[in-house]
Amino acid sequence: MRTVDIIAAKRDGRELSPEEISYIISGVMNEGPKASVKDYQLAAWLMAVCWRGMSIEETACLTDAMAKSGDVLDLSEIGPFVGDKHSTGGVGDKTTLVFVPLLAAAGLPMAKLSGRGLGHTGGTIDKLEAIPGFSCDLPVKQFIKQVKEIGCAIAAQTQDLAPADGKLYAMRDVTATVASIPLIAASVMSKKIAAGANLIVLDVKCGLGAFMQSEADAIKLAEVMAEVGARLKRPVSAVVTDMEQPLGYAVGHTLEVQEAVEALQGRGPADLQQLIMTLGALALVKAQKAKTEAEAKEILHELIDSGKALAKLKELIVAQGGDANIISNYELMPQARLKKELKVPGNHNGHRGHQESSEKVWIEHIDGKKIADACKLMGGGRAHKGDAINLATGVVLSAKIGSELSLGSTMATIYADSQEDYLKAEKKVFEAIKLSSKPVKCPEIIRAEVSV
Ligand code: URA
Repeated sequence: MRTVDIIAAKRDGRELSPEEISYIISGVMNEGPKASVKDYQLAAWLMAVCWRGMSIEETACLTDAMAKSGDVLDLSEIGPFVGDKHSTGGVGDKTTLVFVPLLAAAGLPMAKLSGRGLGHTGGTIDKLEAIPGFSCDLPVKQFIKQVKEIGCAIAAQTQDLAPADGKLYAMRDVTATVASIPLIAASVMSKKIAAGANLIVLDVKCGLGAFMQSEADAIKLAEVMAEVGARLKRPVSAVVTDMEQPLGYAVGHTLEVQEAVEALQGRGPADLQQLIMTLGALALVKAQKAKTEAEAKEILHELIDSGKALAKLKELIVAQGGDANIISNYELMPQARLKKELKVPGNHNGHRGHQESSEKVWIEHIDGKKIADACKLMGGGRAHKGDAINLATGVVLSAKIGSELSLGSTMATIYADSQEDYLKAEKKVFEAIKLSSKPVKCPEIIRAEVSV
């Protein structure tokens, strides 16, 4: 077999055999001059998959090969149910930071394998690194031990767990090959299978800030992951959720950890709270910890109100070497030098500053991709594999789609490290927020549910 022939076959739209797919994945795993699949060949193959797609059989084979590129954990000794959750990537998506301690506090062990930022979207591992000392590089033994001892762990994909995904993920991030249903499905599902959980909830994002922009594509991605899970004996439940605008208000690493802490104190944004309750209730009912969705939500609310969910976050931070004092003192996390507010301009919708200051406007749309681009311009994302990122910078929105504002009121606050960065981000944020002179309806966060 030759790599170049497999690339050509996919370029020409042929279905690859299981042997060809295994050849690519094992070739990626051989490092150095002996590698049978060079970096430039992997980039070409990924682009061919992006353009030509993959059948469900190919996607399941790719997932299986990627999962088996490292250890596949057996967590059955932990209990009958071990939970995991994964999002397909969004802007301002800090769901895991709330979901994992909350569900662990409810008695569902959570063994979560997460990723770094991908394309324009943020990654949980990068966000957690805003907490001084926090490490997601957990060797397998420690990962399992921690789940047994405190009920949860969040680990990065490593040399041991789905290492092939680590290589493909980093390459996709810098070759514009992220937005592909089979590549996303195989990336997500290989990690979920390798990490060993048997109760998997997927959050499939849909809208301008997501890789799947239409609801039809997001449902298709959810169905493909559900089908791959069924074929590989790891059933999943998927919820398609809105990413027309960022989730919550905060976008940026330190800022999102802060918002997650607030959500665990019952002070989080309404959309984040609704999403957590929906995903959490789904997991608790499946784990037989509640009979109905309503009962499950009551349990989750009680864990937040009583402070037990926040206490579990503290335990998680300490167990992974982090400084839990960030919970009461956000300034212990990286802080941006400048903080500036953006006001509703007098010339929205092409008008030119004659309005009375009491004139009302409504937020019609917030382009999450542009907000993410603003953060990237301030160093909050990667241009090359392995780049260091600025964890302090970001954008905090003051309002969401449908919110009513007055001329001159604050739409967003930009956290930048220099005036130059601020000006670049300001332009993007102005472009991202579209205003209307008529009332606008707020989109529903939950769009559809898919399971097999
Ligand atoms: N999350 C992943 O783990 N992989 C993807 O490809 C997209 C989101």
